Amino acid sequence: MSGIEDKLAPLDAAPTPRPGIIDIAPYVGGEASIAGATRIIRLASNESALGPSPKAVAAYRAIAGEIFRYPDGASVELRRAIAAHFGLDETRIVCGTGSDELISLLAKCYAGPGDEVIHSRHGFLMYPLAAQAAGATPVAVPEINLTADVDGVLDRVTARTRLVYIANPNNPTGTYLSRDAMKRLHRALPRSCVLVVDAAYCEFVARNDYEPGLELVEGNSNVVMLRTFSKIHALAGLRVGWAYAGAAIADVLNRTRGTFNVGLPAQAAAIASLGDTESIERAQAHNHRWRPWLEQQIRGLGLAVNPAVANFVLTRFPEGEKDSVAAAEFLKSRAILVRRMAAYHLPEYLRITVGTEDENRAVVAALTEFVKT
Ligand SMILES: Cc1ncc(COP(=O)(O)O)c(C=O)c1O
Repeated sequence: MSGIEDKLAPLDAAPTPRPGIIDIAPYVGGEASIAGATRIIRLASNESALGPSPKAVAAYRAIAGEIFRYPDGASVELRRAIAAHFGLDETRIVCGTGSDELISLLAKCYAGPGDEVIHSRHGFLMYPLAAQAAGATPVAVPEINLTADVDGVLDRVTARTRLVYIANPNNPTGTYLSRDAMKRLHRALPRSCVLVVDAAYCEFVARNDYEPGLELVEGNSNVVMLRTFSKIHALAGLRVGWAYAGAAIADVLNRTRGTFNVGLPAQAAAIASLGDTESIERAQAHNHRWRPWLEQQIRGLGLAVNPAVANFVLTRFPEGEKDSVAAAEFLKSRAILVRRMAAYHLPEYLRITVGTEDENRAVVAALTEFVKT
């Protein structure tokens, strides 16, 4: 046998993935069903409480007869609609199968074995998973008061750092970095490092010092802003997200994304949703009313709630008999699903999505029963 053949795996061996792939703990989404329960209150995945725009649903239905056709692989109309809505350059918008596809692509395109990818310790779980899938090393930076720490991130930048992912606001902590903090972070990063600003929840934020990343993308070739139609637009089941970046990064994403990555009904519904500003404003007003209500009610039960700006609240439970595990089980027994946080290194917390008025009242009533009995 030649030297090369000596190194090949035996032909009858099982296929083996690249090193590191089997070390990836698969992403576990929020629970969606309870055995035997018919009416379930689902507050585990930060979906928008009020559901999609009727215009989006109508557009989805209207295109049903066309679904034998391939979608426009370049999502031209959708990109045009996004560009017109936000005043952006459509050539630098890239649509994805949810922003998840874009998170993964960025890691695969810009990092590999030997490279480092920075994320904050309680940042969105997809970031370390995407880094691992790319063969790169995720670097978790401790947070301060459950908020990304700009100086901590900068301290961990090395010559091997290729990407920094920041969810702003962050899921699951609900905290955010100000425009100035993000600017400071970007200014101190090497230009060779891609800063990914994941603004999945930006439409829920009502703070004067917040900026979703558009300003940073303009004039900086190493910044990507990610957005999604899954949250305030309430189209999570259709899987549509988009990136706005400098021309070079947009080009890289376009070369590597799925050819027909956004389905025909998904494009149609997203375009219609963008045009329905009333629906979006209703969802914002609902959230502005009910998130503070949830926070206040839960605090009133003696539980700590992390100050948040998105459409969910992170609630801390004490250790012992009435801990977060017991609380989640109790809520489940009342057909209410919320998210356990162990995978985010926050085992003492539960994340509760803002629901409809009835759902919010039901979760508070159930928590009251849990705490007081
Ligand atoms: C911070 C953050 N980014 C991205 C996503 C993924 O969104 P999408 O449905 O667009 O893939 C989520 C979903 O929960 C999220 O919380």
